[in-house]
Amino acid sequence: MSKGLFITGTDTGVGKTRVTAVLAVALRRCGWRVGVMKPVETGCLIVTETCPRKEQYHSNEDKQAQSDRERENLVGVEPCADPGHPPTNTIVGVEPSQPLQQQSTNSTTPQSSYPAPFLHAQDSHFLRQISGCTAPPEVVTPYIFREPLAPAIAAQHEGQEIDLDHIVRCYNALSAEHDIVLVEGAGGLLVPLTRQENFLDLAVRLDLPVLVVARNILGTINHTALTVTVASQRCRVIGIVLNSVAAEAQDVSQSSNAEALRMWGRAPLLGQLPYVPEITRESLLKQSECIDISAIL
Ligand SMILES: Nc1ncnc2c1ncn2[C@@H]1O[C@H](COP(=O)(O)OP(=O)(O)O)[C@@H](O)[C@H]1O
Ligand SMILES: [Mg+2]
Repeated sequence: MSKGLFITGTDTGVGKTRVTAVLAVALRRCGWRVGVMKPVETGCLIVTETCPRKEQYHSNEDKQAQSDRERENLVGVEPCADPGHPPTNTIVGVEPSQPLQQQSTNSTTPQSSYPAPFLHAQDSHFLRQISGCTAPPEVVTPYIFREPLAPAIAAQHEGQEIDLDHIVRCYNALSAEHDIVLVEGAGGLLVPLTRQENFLDLAVRLDLPVLVVARNILGTINHTALTVTVASQRCRVIGIVLNSVAAEAQDVSQSSNAEALRMWGRAPLLGQLPYVPEITRESLLKQSECIDISAIL
């Protein structure tokens, strides 16, 4: 049976995407077919001609392999009838729940065919690229919103509602085609998706174990213990990854946080990621050596 993992964090910007990418390359190297999912992405850039990315991935060799794979997979896929939308691929049984505005990664179709602007989901695009997951963007990220707000609020501002049933269907479709699906949340665990539901509810609906990414700064003991405590009430927490998002130590806690989390984090510390600014397949693989991947396998 396919496995899954829900990657949450103590906050936004703590390294959830980075840790997801590190796990993806490590699992790929073990021969796993890795699916990725970022169910909701907010703060998506409006792209006109080029596609700026928060995470810049550098391996040309891998990019070529990815683009070749996508070309193979997308043979015969026709652009949407509506010229305002990029072309899309579909997974049987999953219908888009909203007008598609995502950037297409269909490298066979020139961007110029699709009048800009459209929304670019950065995390989603990066994770698809690094994991080799060729599922359609609207399945990997069924909901994208422009404003950098909690999903429930961003959706409301755009007159939409997030439907967890639709996210579950997309997840099931990904799960059917991969050995493992890595699901990245947005912000922290209790960030609202709808009036009644948050990311913890989603992790429960998907029946996924949880990995908590914590930032290596002062305050992390409390933020991590709170997150682990709440998650543990309804999910299995497999562990914590402590991540350094800044080159310089922000405060003196950096050298004691790992030990403190071992003592008070309330879940196993699976690793500590050093600050590594470059993002290549090699650098991500190197970072994966700092995480106890066996906890996931
Ligand atoms: N270990 C690290 N070394 C260097 N930069 C990092 C590291 N972890 C995260 N970053 C950078 O910090 C920023 C926030 O990380 P990201 O993974 O996007 O956080 P989140 O997904 O939790 O919002 C990104 O620019 C990312 O490249
Ligand atoms: Mg992210």
